[in-house]
Amino acid sequence: MSRAGTKLILGIETSCDETALALIETRGEGASFECRVLGSLVHSQAALHSAYGGVYPSLAKREHGKNLVPLLHKLLIETSELMPATGARGEVAIDLEKLKNEVAPQNPELYEAIAGAAFLKHIPAIDLIAVTEGPGLEPALWTGITFTRVLSEIWQIPVVPVNHMEGHVVGSLIPSDATNGAWQRLSDIPLPAVAFLISGGHTQLIRAEKLGHYEILGETVDDAVGEAFDKAARLLGLGYPGGPYLSKMAQEARDRGIDAPVKLPRPMLASGDLKFSFSGLKTAVLYAVGKAGDAVSDDWKRGLAREFEDAVVETLEKKLRKALDEVGAGSIIVGGGVAANHVIREHFKTVASEYGIPIYMPSQHLSGDNALMIAVAGAVNPKTSKELRAHGTKKLGS
Ligand code: KG4
Ligand code: ZN
Repeated sequence: MSRAGTKLILGIETSCDETALALIETRGEGASFECRVLGSLVHSQAALHSAYGGVYPSLAKREHGKNLVPLLHKLLIETSELMPATGARGEVAIDLEKLKNEVAPQNPELYEAIAGAAFLKHIPAIDLIAVTEGPGLEPALWTGITFTRVLSEIWQIPVVPVNHMEGHVVGSLIPSDATNGAWQRLSDIPLPAVAFLISGGHTQLIRAEKLGHYEILGETVDDAVGEAFDKAARLLGLGYPGGPYLSKMAQEARDRGIDAPVKLPRPMLASGDLKFSFSGLKTAVLYAVGKAGDAVSDDWKRGLAREFEDAVVETLEKKLRKALDEVGAGSIIVGGGVAANHVIREHFKTVASEYGIPIYMPSQHLSGDNALMIAVAGAVNPKTSKELRAHGTKKLGS
């Protein structure tokens, strides 16, 4: 314990193309659990991956290897005012020969960064490290896990593995991501809840009996919803990641009264279950672009982006309603990068008010991948659900 009754937890997240670290302080348990955010840093690699139109796993791994150590240094410096007695636990001698054998063969960049970081000799007042164990890109995940193992060994700090998707669920229950030192409780959610995880790697409807007890009700049979946004955006020649670009074009079409040039399918709308499929929608965009040929102007793209977003929203909304009916849900939790989409947020809010139940959606910082959600998830629920764990090997991207 760092101070009377409080714990300092370092969160580490490297499941995809964001290198993220966060430091939180917690106190209490169960209903009286409270946390405060000391720092949360995210280093996005999106610009590097944009040339590939998606996340390139070995590049992500190398970048995590390069960035984790300097990002940790920055976090420790930025939080030193709020963190009690940094380095109070004294100094350690780091056995670089041993680390070279253990880390350098798989992660040369990570080893080089560790070998050059004198600050690692000072043991910080951290009590626990929470690290994303999956699901995600294996080489990227392993870089974060390896770094965690090294820190755990040299500083003698225990580790708790965290499921990335559970991180997104918990992230939406953190009232504020502000690093103002204020203590806060997680939102007290009426249960059971329906959690809707919509990201670049997943589209899942989940029944949450309580935090840590999840049952997957339905998920995508092919592309994830964020992946569909990214692929459609790529076909329209927009930037990466495509979701925000495509959504902006769709909004411009609405503002300017530009209609859809073609009708796109509403995939799995009539399937009668809670499964999703987005690859057909992407293919429909591909055909529409091919058929339009020279007629593809910026306004044509705007109209198609609008139709694409409408098709996605309609599908997500219908399945969400079905899940709420099946579960008899007391609340809705939305998580994942696509939760940043304004149209989706508005539609989900309307659904929640029709059902007369609260909805919890992440802030901008917490909707994309971050380590704050991992640190808090590790603090409230050191054991992750078996069922989510079973999905831990699912790869992101195409
Ligand atoms: O959760 P996240 O940061 O990473 C994964 O775990 O996948 O989600 C990233 C995804 C990308 O596919 C990105 O295009 C999408 O979230 N996204 C959006 C928006 N902002 C991010 N999709 C639609 N509209 C947005 N405004
Ligand atoms: Zn994510």
